[in-house]
Amino acid sequence: MGAMIVVLTGAGISKESGIDTFRDTGGLWENERIEDVATPGGFRRNPARVFDFYNKRRRALQDAAIQPNAAHRALARLERESPESVLVITQNVDDLHERGGTKALLHMHGELYKARCTACSAVCPWEEDMDGDSVCPSCGKRGAMRPHIVWFEEMPLYMDEIERALRTCRLFVSIGTSGNVYPAAGFCQTARHYGAHTLELNLERSLVAGGFHEGRYGPASEIVPAWVDEVLGGERSAAEGE
Ligand code: APR
Repeated sequence: MGAMIVVLTGAGISKESGIDTFRDTGGLWENERIEDVATPGGFRRNPARVFDFYNKRRRALQDAAIQPNAAHRALARLERESPESVLVITQNVDDLHERGGTKALLHMHGELYKARCTACSAVCPWEEDMDGDSVCPSCGKRGAMRPHIVWFEEMPLYMDEIERALRTCRLFVSIGTSGNVYPAAGFCQTARHYGAHTLELNLERSLVAGGFHEGRYGPASEIVPAWVDEVLGGERSAAEGE
């Protein structure tokens, strides 16, 4: 049976950990153009600029000050303590869900700490800077490495598994995402079509807020733990009988 609770997360869940979002004031897309640093064309035109954009973000993530916050930890607690299975689908490329303790996790937009070889397609762990001379740890080819990040115009990862989860879950919760980017912005509609209850947890109403049964607004570090307490409390009382 697929996951009963499916959680989609976006940059907003990592904001209070000190990682910039994309479209808030001061966000990443204020200083860089998507077409220059997050498209296959941008990489072809100026690979050094793209390597630099991801090298900076990868280095920033290694800062000791960047830690999972209460929202990441609450989702891991939900997974540990809920009798129902939980699947987290994240658009984020940081490792804060892993460090917060989540196990069942799909990075649909890739990961900063991984690299992909365009020669042999191997995906390898990668923590240092990457450039046009980087060597593939798997096939040994020099100069064929790219960030393991899904760029615009590219297909997100794990879409078959994600589709199955959206069709079978009882509850779909979206946390910290603005609803600007598909297919993630359409996940609520799919889950709802197949009968799931749908809840948006965000700092403010997203572009797709109207498609959810319910919405709660505030900082993720406050509203996510509160929601998890409610789900676990409800499940516990249901399990123990009213
Ligand atoms: N708590 C909860 N939500 C927050 C917080 C917070 N502390 N701070 C910001 N948010 C919300 C914002 O209100 C916004 O709706 O997080 C959302 C961030 O939106 P975006 O910056 O658009 O990030 P995201 O939705 O993850 O972007 C999706 O776009 O550029 C691509 O691939 C990139 O995965 C990314 C995708």
